[in-house]
Formats: sequence, structure tokens, C-alpha cells
Amino acid sequence: MIRCLVLFSLLILSTSAQKTSSQTWQTLNGDEPVVIARGGFSGLFPESSQFAHQIALSTSLSNVILYCNLQLTKDSVGICQTDIRLDNSTNIAAVFPKSQKTYTINGENVQGWFALDYTSDQLFNNVTLTQSIYSRPSLFDGTLPLSTVDDAIGIKPPGFWLNVQYDAFYAANKLSVSSYIQKTTRFMGISYISSPEIGFLKNMNKIINKAKTKLIFRFLDADAVEPTTKQPYSSILKDLSSIKSIASGILVPKEYIWPLSKDQYLLTPSSVVADAHKQGLEVYASGFANDMPGSYNYSYDPTAEYLQFVDNSDFSVDGVLTDFPPTASEAIACLAHNKNATRPSKGKILVISHNGASGVYPGSTDLAYQQAVDDGADIIDCSVQMSKDGVAFCLNSADLLGSSNAMTSFMSRSTMVSEIQPKSGIFSFDLTWSEIQTLTPQLTSPLPNSGLARNPANKNQGKFITLSDFLDFAKAKAVSGILIDIENAAYLASKKGLSIIDAVTAALSNATFDKQATQQVMIQSDDTSVLSKFKNVPGYKRVLSIKEIIGDVPKQTVEEIKKFADAVNLPRSSIVTTNGGFTTTFTTVVDELHAANISAYVSVLRNEYVAIAFDFFSDPVVELATYVGRLGIDGVVTDYPKTADAYLRSPCSDLNAKVAYSILPAEAGALLGLAEPEVLPPAEAPGPPLTVDDVVDPPLPQVSSSNGSTADPAAGPVKAPPRSSGRANAANMGLHLLGILLISLLSAGY
Ligand SMILES: *[C@@H]1O[C@H](CO)[C@@H](O)[C@H](O)[C@H]1NC(C)=O
Ligand SMILES: *[C@@H]1O[C@H](CO)[C@@H](O)[C@H](O)[C@H]1NC(C)=O
Ligand SMILES: *[C@@H]1O[C@H](CO)[C@@H](O)[C@H](O)[C@H]1NC(C)=O
Ligand SMILES: *[C@@H]1O[C@H](CO)[C@@H](O)[C@H](O)[C@H]1NC(C)=O
Ligand SMILES: *[C@@H]1O[C@H](CO)[C@@H](O)[C@H](O)[C@H]1NC(C)=O
Ligand SMILES: *[C@@H]1O[C@H](CO)[C@@H](O)[C@H](O)[C@H]1NC(C)=O
Ligand SMILES: *[C@@H]1O[C@H](CO)[C@@H](O)[C@H](O)[C@H]1NC(C)=O
Repeated sequence: MIRCLVLFSLLILSTSAQKTSSQTWQTLNGDEPVVIARGGFSGLFPESSQFAHQIALSTSLSNVILYCNLQLTKDSVGICQTDIRLDNSTNIAAVFPKSQKTYTINGENVQGWFALDYTSDQLFNNVTLTQSIYSRPSLFDGTLPLSTVDDAIGIKPPGFWLNVQYDAFYAANKLSVSSYIQKTTRFMGISYISSPEIGFLKNMNKIINKAKTKLIFRFLDADAVEPTTKQPYSSILKDLSSIKSIASGILVPKEYIWPLSKDQYLLTPSSVVADAHKQGLEVYASGFANDMPGSYNYSYDPTAEYLQFVDNSDFSVDGVLTDFPPTASEAIACLAHNKNATRPSKGKILVISHNGASGVYPGSTDLAYQQAVDDGADIIDCSVQMSKDGVAFCLNSADLLGSSNAMTSFMSRSTMVSEIQPKSGIFSFDLTWSEIQTLTPQLTSPLPNSGLARNPANKNQGKFITLSDFLDFAKAKAVSGILIDIENAAYLASKKGLSIIDAVTAALSNATFDKQATQQVMIQSDDTSVLSKFKNVPGYKRVLSIKEIIGDVPKQTVEEIKKFADAVNLPRSSIVTTNGGFTTTFTTVVDELHAANISAYVSVLRNEYVAIAFDFFSDPVVELATYVGRLGIDGVVTDYPKTADAYLRSPCSDLNAKVAYSILPAEAGALLGLAEPEVLPPAEAPGPPLTVDDVVDPPLPQVSSSNGSTADPAAGPVKAPPRSSGRANAANMGLHLLGILLISLLSAGY
């Protein structure tokens, strides 16, 4: 019943080259900080399972340390499990339904199923592991056995860390951790032993060979009481010299180093690292996980958090304890000490903002555009909307709801415009520009059910800007280029008497973008008739946006696209298909476009882990590496240009470079391939092929002279052909369920 380990692409990417650079680290010894994998790759697989162990080793830095939390069975066999109760991380409650017990641990009554009540035979023959954290895949539940300490050491990890959390408890129940450790030669394989109990470490001091095994004192919550001295950990922290006599380092929750305000902002760092280093103590920080965002300051980029601990101007910790060791590895090996680097292949892959850096500031505001420039976007984008009085300005959609507080002051203007969207809205073409300028922009998350709000401190910052101001800004900042998105042209012309084409043409010409070659102009539309209108300026690059999910682009359709566009902007799901949060296939769409020399851009990339397939390790950088390195995408459209720029600046983004660590692209279906066939989610139908009819749009109607709702006779009878702008808009990944579950997790204070 227990499936043996399937070798797949993830397992072959281990790297052994040593880092050659002359970087210096502000660690105790000046060495590169180490990555410590808690229970292996527990962010993806059941903690301390065979999969978690193997795949941590194959996806992390070559000197990764495997971390095992020791629990003892009735017959004194050491197993690896973080919680002293086995009920949340195994199926033990179902196997031994009536064997729940209560023990007193550090003065508290704890109820559950405890390893020390079972022999190793009982556990290994009956019990399997399950995922204990709800935001993580349950796909592997029920198939993998517990690991013993010897199992973990047996796979020969480069380093092995044994955490002994409950020595006093086991001693009180007549099981001796120290004799377990001494009994075998397993000592040899243990590079670190940590414990939050001073008595245990004192005892270990007499036993271990300190040249081979380091002792580490583990700090728990500041208010918790250390069992030997009966002092709170916060007091012990003030006397690090006493720790120096029993340990060579400390392991602290990351908030000890970078404390957080109540509302999840980083405060100034404590002096813990400097103080400990002064004593000659190494410092390891715990609590890192891609799916437990640390602070708004990191903009949901998990690599930003590691860099805060290893690449700030004042200190570096000596190692990080993480559930996602590949992400820690890439932060240390590929992204640290790289702030001033230029991209190895500048201009090859474009970073295109999505309403500016709309992950950081309200989209399409002056601040979002400034942030996009600061964050390294090559192309900044303006989705052009029209006001009632004909002012062109930048905003994600014609509907002002969501991106502003329009509901509070202009509720009476709410209407239903089925040509634009299937729900009612307050539309820019019904308000004058001066009315629109009274609105307050709003930073909202496109993943509203995820519980992952975007930075509340920036919620109402910035102001909306006209297209003309946007163009002046782009010129002044000398960005490589601009992308002007045009939608609803036909509706605006026939129903509102507004020519968005003329407005854009005039603004570009007034700003002399039509007469210069230094900054690239991209005109994007979902309407081929709009793109045709810009054919006469040869310097403009025309981008067809195809919002519907497609599975492939037959040759005939590609030929048709080629008549209108130089590039195509696609939702992620038209390139990578997913099911239940796992990738299933990579489509042929990008290759089909490339065969006709049409560039392909992917949109929209977002840092929030709920928007990222599990195969990308809940890591936006691995998603980027897959689109860039594996799928050959020419541009990424992103809410967070900083993350894309950091990846492209990294030496590791060049897959041919000789680097110590490679950020390897995911392979479609790799994780589903590891699961038992009967637990796979039902396969979803692939997207349909894109037909010629989908691409070709009717010619644009005349601009009606009256701006009321009556049709202009000159435009002929007003028919409402299904223009491409009316296509489905279902580009999200449908991972909302995860988000809901996350809310309960966060509120449980994990
Ligand atoms: C185990 O699960 C129960 C109920 O789901 C929860 O109350 C408890 O806090 C969990 N324990 C741990 C250690 O996560
Ligand atoms: C657990 O495994 C043992 C064999 O070691 C077997 O005798 C026993 O019946 C199993 N118990 C349950 C509850 O399945
Ligand atoms: C974190 O963000 C807050 C709010 O934007 C800011 O005040 C603070 O300086 C930031 N902290 C760090 C360490 O960057
Ligand atoms: C990066 O550039 C800044 C400003 O030019 C400079 O102060 C800093 O020392 C540079 N950092 C490195 C690591 O070269
Ligand atoms: C639309 O009509 C109103 C009067 O009904 C007029 O004030 C306004 O200038 C017109 N707008 C355009 C763009 O023609
Ligand atoms: C033309 O450009 C100038 C200078 O950039 C600007 O002030 C003005 O508003 C622009 N006019 C139009 C109609 O865009
Ligand atoms: C591909 O398109 C680019 C411009 O987008 C052009 O410079 C190049 O010559 C084209 N290559 C081929 C093979 O058509």
C-alpha cells in the first residue's frame, strides 16, 4: 500500500558546484548562511515523509541541512515529527480510535495520540502521514509512512539537525533521549542538536563530540518558561553569555530578530544577531514558510523575507529554518548581494507592469507607476479609459467600482452595460474628468477570498492620471517602453460619441511618441480592428490580448493574427493548465506563436501564493523561471515588477550560467505524477483552439455625433456583434478554496 518513491524531474536537479564568488556574508564566520529544511520539504509534502526528505535534498542548496524533530516510541525508537501529538499529522486517530490520552507537558494538560504509547511496529505497520497544514496539498495523505531518525540519516543528507523539544517529558515517562542518542553510532551523522531545555543541553555537553556536533539552544516564545531554570525565554535572552557555556548557537523565532507591529509591519530590528555574534554564538532563525506571509513589507514575495535576514546592511543570520527550502536556497544563492546587478540578458524578456506596480499601490495611480519604474519594469502600461467629457486617463477597467470609492459618491450613476460587463457598474464614460478626480483610488486584492490583503498602509494612496500625464511621466523616467491598452472602442464610438482611438493617437503624437525610436510603444487591444488603426506607425508594436482560455492556436489562426499583431498577451491558463492547484500540461500556444515570429506575453503574474500552482512551490520566482526558462515567454505582465526584475537580474536566470544553484523550471504534471491515481482530481477539458472567427472583429463603427444613447444613423443600424471584448474573463486559477482555508489558519495564529 505504501508507494515507493517515484523518481521524477525534481530529483535530478541537485547541484554540487561550490559558490565561486567573493561575496562576504555578515554571518558569524563569514560563510554563506545555511538552509535548514524543517521536516524536509514540508511546505509541499507531509512533514518528514520520504518525499519531503528526498525532494528537499534535490531542490535545495548542496549543503542543505535536514531538520528532524525527535519523538520517541514506547520501545525507544526515534521518529521525526514536529508535534508531540501525532493526530494532526497522521491517520492515527482513525487507526486507534479509542486510544486518546492526556499528558501534562510543561505544566499544561495536552490531549491526543502520543508516540510513546505505541511501539514502532504498531506505528509503522498501521499509520500513515497526512498533511497537517490546510493550505498545503493533501494529495499525498495516507500513502507515506513515518520516518525514523535512522531513515532520515540514511538518505545521507549533507547535514542533519535533531531538535529535542521534550527531553523532560520523555524522562518523566521513563524514556531517555540521551541514551537513545548515545546507543547507536547515529551520533556520527548528527551535525546539530538543538533543544529549548537547558538541562538537556548541559547533559549533552558532557556526551557529544563538539567537533562533530554543534549544540544549539532553542528559544521559544518570549513569555514561555524554560523548564530547567523556570525563567521566561525573554530573560534568558538578556544573558547570552550563560548560553555560550552550553551551546555554540541559538535558534530563535524570526520575530526575535525582525519584530512585527500588531498590524504586521516590520519594526526596527533587534540587536539579537549582533549580541549573539559578539558572544561567538551562531544565530539561526525559524518560522519561514512561503504560505505564511511574514509582513506587508515583503509584498508577498517570500524571497524578500529571507533577504531581510541575510542581506541587510547590518547583519546576516547563520541559517534559516524553513518549510520551503528551495525558496530559501534561491534567495541565498541567486538573489542576495545582487541589488546593483544588471540583467545578464537585458531586453530579452520584458517586465511589463500591470496598471503600474498594482500589487503595491492602487492600480494606475501616479504612485503605482513610480513604483513600477523604481522596481525595474521595462514597460509601464496604461489601460486607457474615457471620461464623459472626452478625457483619456489610465485605469484597469471602464468600471470605477473596485479601483475607487465611486460607490460612495456616485451610486446614482450605476448602470448595466452588457456590452462591457455582465454586472452593473459606475462607468468612467458617465462621469466627467473633474468628477473622476474627486474619487479616492483603492488598493484591492484581485484574490478577495484569499484573506491576503494588499498593504493597508497604501490602501488609498496616489491619484489617477490622464494619458497625457502618463506619457510625460514615461518620457521623463526614460523607461524602455509603454503599453497602451484600448478596450471598448466600438461601444464608446457608437453609444457614447467618444473616439478612444483619436484620443490615444493625439496624445501619443502630442508627446511625440510617434516620431521617436528610443522608447518602444506597444498598442494593445482585444479588438483587431483597433490594432488595424495603428498600422500606419511602423515603430509601434501591436499586441493582441486574448483573454479567453485557449488550448492551442492552429496555423490558420496564427496567420490571421500575424496580419494584425506582433505580439499576443495571454492569460496564464492558456499556457499552463492546472487542476486543483496542480499543473497538468503546458500548451503549445507559445511555440505556435513563435513559429510565426509572434511574441508571447503572459498575464497576470502575482506574488500571492494562492495564485501560484503547487508545482511552482508557492514561489513566484519558480513560476517566473518556468515561464521564462521552460516556456520561452517574451514578456511577463505582473502586479509585482520587483520580483520579476530581481529574478531576471539574478545570475541564476541564465540556465546556461555556471552557478552554484539553479532555479529550475517546473515540469507540468510532475506533482500529480507522484500521487496515487485514485486520488487525482478529475481531469479538466483543455481550452478550445482559437479560431479565425475568434480573432477577426467587425470594423469599428463611426463615432456618433450625439453622445446620448440614440444611435447615429450614419453608423447604420446598431447591431451588437459579439466583439472579442465580450469574451469570457476567467483567467483566475480558481484556488479560492485554499484562500478560505488560509483565513482560518491565520486566525488560528499559526
Ligand atoms: C490539531 O487539530 C485540531 C483540530 O483540527 C486543532 O485544534 C489543533 O490546534 C491542532 N494542533 C496542532 C498542533 O496543529
Ligand atoms: C497494527 O499492526 C500490527 C502488526 O504489527 C497488527 O497486528 C495490528 O492488528 C495492527 N493494528 C491495527 C489497529 O490495525
Ligand atoms: C515596513 O512598512 C511600513 C509601512 O509602509 C514602513 O513604515 C516601515 O518603514 C517598513 N519597514 C521596513 C523595515 O522596511
Ligand atoms: C550599490 O549601489 C549603491 C548606490 O550606487 C552603493 O551605495 C552600494 O554600495 C552598491 N552596493 C554594492 C553591493 O555594490
Ligand atoms: C455630450 O453632450 C453634452 C450635452 O448633452 C455636452 O455638454 C458634452 O460636451 C457632449 N460631450 C461630447 C464628448 O461630445
Ligand atoms: C500635449 O503635451 C503637453 C506637454 O507634454 C501637455 O501639457 C498637454 O496637456 C498635451 N495636450 C494634449 C491634448 O494631450
Ligand atoms: C521577426 O520579427 C522581428 C520584428 O518583430 C523582425 O525584426 C524579424 O526580422 C522577424 N524575423 C523573421 C524570421 O521573420
